[in-house]
Amino acid sequence: MKVAVLGAAGGIGQALALLLKTQLPAGSKLSLYDIAPVTPGVAVDLSHIPTDVEVKGFAGEDPTAALVDADVVLMSAGVARKPGMDRSDLFNINAGIVRNLMEKVAVTCPKALVGIITNPVNTTVAIAAEVLKNAGVYDKNRLFGITTLDVIRSETFIAELKGVNVADVNINVIGGHSGVTILPLLSQVEGVSFTDEEVAALTKRIQNAGTEVVEAKAGGGSATLSMGQAACRFGLSLVRGLQGEANVVECAYVDGGSEHAEFFAQPVVLGKNGVEKVLPYGEISAFEANARDAMLDTLKGDIKLGVEFVK
Ligand code: 2OP
Repeated sequence: MKVAVLGAAGGIGQALALLLKTQLPAGSKLSLYDIAPVTPGVAVDLSHIPTDVEVKGFAGEDPTAALVDADVVLMSAGVARKPGMDRSDLFNINAGIVRNLMEKVAVTCPKALVGIITNPVNTTVAIAAEVLKNAGVYDKNRLFGITTLDVIRSETFIAELKGVNVADVNINVIGGHSGVTILPLLSQVEGVSFTDEEVAALTKRIQNAGTEVVEAKAGGGSATLSMGQAACRFGLSLVRGLQGEANVVECAYVDGGSEHAEFFAQPVVLGKNGVEKVLPYGEISAFEANARDAMLDTLKGDIKLGVEFVK
């Protein structure tokens, strides 16, 4: 397996690369690209860790060398939020970065599974899809917005609140990856129950968790370490699916034929060609149905922005 990280010298990229270096299956290749000149050095640094994962680093304007033969591409390139900013405030800079990188992906490794981390994910995934469509290589089963951070935050906060082992907490988070579009399905979590007040407060905390980090870092950026962990979990799941493991399920923001929006986060089975099956997200509470319906205008607007940007 060859995994390419685009944006590998950034806060998320370096955390992600470290985790992949220590957790990818033996014999894998890790290819790091960033515009920053330090990137080959990051690769040398990681290469001293004794695992059977070969690391190479590439810097400069062109990611092509890093993308050759990639099975999986994880894209974290772009700028992060500062206090007072919403993920959509990143659009002006990050939209162009994602478009340019996806143009190279479309030419160099059009069959790769691509996981987008670069915010605003609700929009950048639509940009990526348009670029791939324009190049005639779009396969909806191979493009993902990584929403795993919303899942691991939910797991953590639920375990904290209910005093249960976090390893036993499983949850679907549906919708998108920004504010009200993040909808944790708390009503489905097994082994715990919540009052209406707890549901309202916990849902809000999960939706605002990225902002909680942005404010705590006080101008020093947004979530990098937890995002690195989330992207690593998702990237490893993509690899496990590619290697033929059965029943690899993750929530992800995909073009999965949702009745709600062109892209919608929901559980999917991952396999040799990316999305093997989109799973129904199951029964939800009245609170969740209201929240789902109320997010759709925002989510559709985010998607439209991406489509129009490329057009
Ligand atoms: C977050 O949710 C960085 O979007 C990321 O914190």
